[in-house]
Amino acid sequence: MALKEPMVVLSDVHRDFALGDHIVHALRGVSMEVYEGEFIVVLGPSGSGKTTLLNQIGGIDSPTKGTIKVKGEEITEWGTGQLGDYRRNRVGWIFQFFNLIPSLRAWENVALALEFKGDRENIKSRACDMLKAVGLGDKTDRFPSQLSGGEQQRVAIARALVKNPEIIVADEPTGNLDFVTGEKIADLMKDLNEQFGGTYLVVSHDINITEKAQRVFYLRDGQIETVEDHSK
Ligand SMILES: Nc1ncnc2c1ncn2[C@@H]1O[C@H](COP(=O)(O)OP(=O)(O)OP(=O)(O)O)[C@@H](O)[C@H]1O
Ligand SMILES: [Mg+2]
Repeated sequence: MALKEPMVVLSDVHRDFALGDHIVHALRGVSMEVYEGEFIVVLGPSGSGKTTLLNQIGGIDSPTKGTIKVKGEEITEWGTGQLGDYRRNRVGWIFQFFNLIPSLRAWENVALALEFKGDRENIKSRACDMLKAVGLGDKTDRFPSQLSGGEQQRVAIARALVKNPEIIVADEPTGNLDFVTGEKIADLMKDLNEQFGGTYLVVSHDINITEKAQRVFYLRDGQIETVEDHSK
């Protein structure tokens, strides 16, 4: 792994938020490298900057200071248009509360990611194939309200992966699921990582997920405190 070029490189990333008359230092000089195909977990207390960190890497937000490179390209130099393309085409998002559109069927929720990308060829069959890969081949026509929490998260994972993203960011993906369902989702994410590749950055306190990580980054007060390497 050490021989590969890093896929994502953060150098001294800071993110300040102005809140009324004071400034919140959400990230205070984060430097890290993530390799292609890695499964990384980010841990830390509430308010330590985990979501802020994912948002910088996923192109939802930009640092106040510091640089982020993805495959050698400095995304922190990009304007909103280029950053939007990056988000739509190259990053898959998985959220704690699934964020599915209730009025759309499972396959339509998945297909939407391809619509946004402007990639409409065989859209339904590709969405259904991805749902099959997450174990929902027989439920493609269900609405989110007709699915269990674990099944809804599977749809959300299919939506994140259908566009074949290079980077998958997940913020507490099992945080709203019971332990056993969370375990299945953790297994699924790791299987998909091995099957389709993709670099995973996952914020999670769930042991099911953290034990699958190659490396665990501990954040505290907006800084990386320690890194545990489980890959050796
Ligand atoms: N838009 C914002 N405006 C002001 N402060 C913010 C904003 N977003 C985050 N913060 C602050 O930045 C710090 C880090 O927030 P962040 O959401 O990254 O924490 P977290 O580690 O994800 O916490 P949790 O585990 O509770 O989700 C917190 O002090 C938070 O209040
Ligand atoms: Mg958070």
